[in-house]
Amino acid sequence: MDVNKKEQVTTRRDFLRYVGSFFATGLVITTVYPILTSCEKDESLPAPPPGSNVTIDLKAHPELNNIPSIKKINIQTPVSLTIIIKRISQTNFLGFSSLCPHQGVDLELPSNPDGNLHCPRHNVDFSTMETNKGVVVSNPNGVKLGNLPTYQVEFDPNKNILTIKLS
Ligand code: FES
Repeated sequence: MDVNKKEQVTTRRDFLRYVGSFFATGLVITTVYPILTSCEKDESLPAPPPGSNVTIDLKAHPELNNIPSIKKINIQTPVSLTIIIKRISQTNFLGFSSLCPHQGVDLELPSNPDGNLHCPRHNVDFSTMETNKGVVVSNPNGVKLGNLPTYQVEFDPNKNILTIKLS
């Protein structure tokens, strides 16, 4: 093999090495990118049992005597479920899911009952106001998610009982 031919082979080999490393990098990018971005997709959460109503005796939750007030309450349906209840008047209450609709993270209560529910994972805030209940009001990272699920709540003032309609 003469010198020119030898240089050609070396050059071709270097070229193939270069192309190979390029495709290997591309493979890593095409493999890793969907994994990195998959956390941006909405994840479905287990739905509450359809048609379920649960009752809460307010005597067991004296914090909700204040107006306004807000509290997490764990209830036992067929599965354990935590609901956020907010009292907005003598007879009106609001119900919210306690889990973020993005990735199911447990939401933080506001220090002021009229403040927002906060998701600590991506710093999203959800309104607790009656006119805007569950609406995303702050989303600094632009996470793709819907509003916070809410529940209809009925109050029986004679028995001091709340009925939460889960569907
Ligand atoms: S987990 Fe992402 S916004 Fe709550």
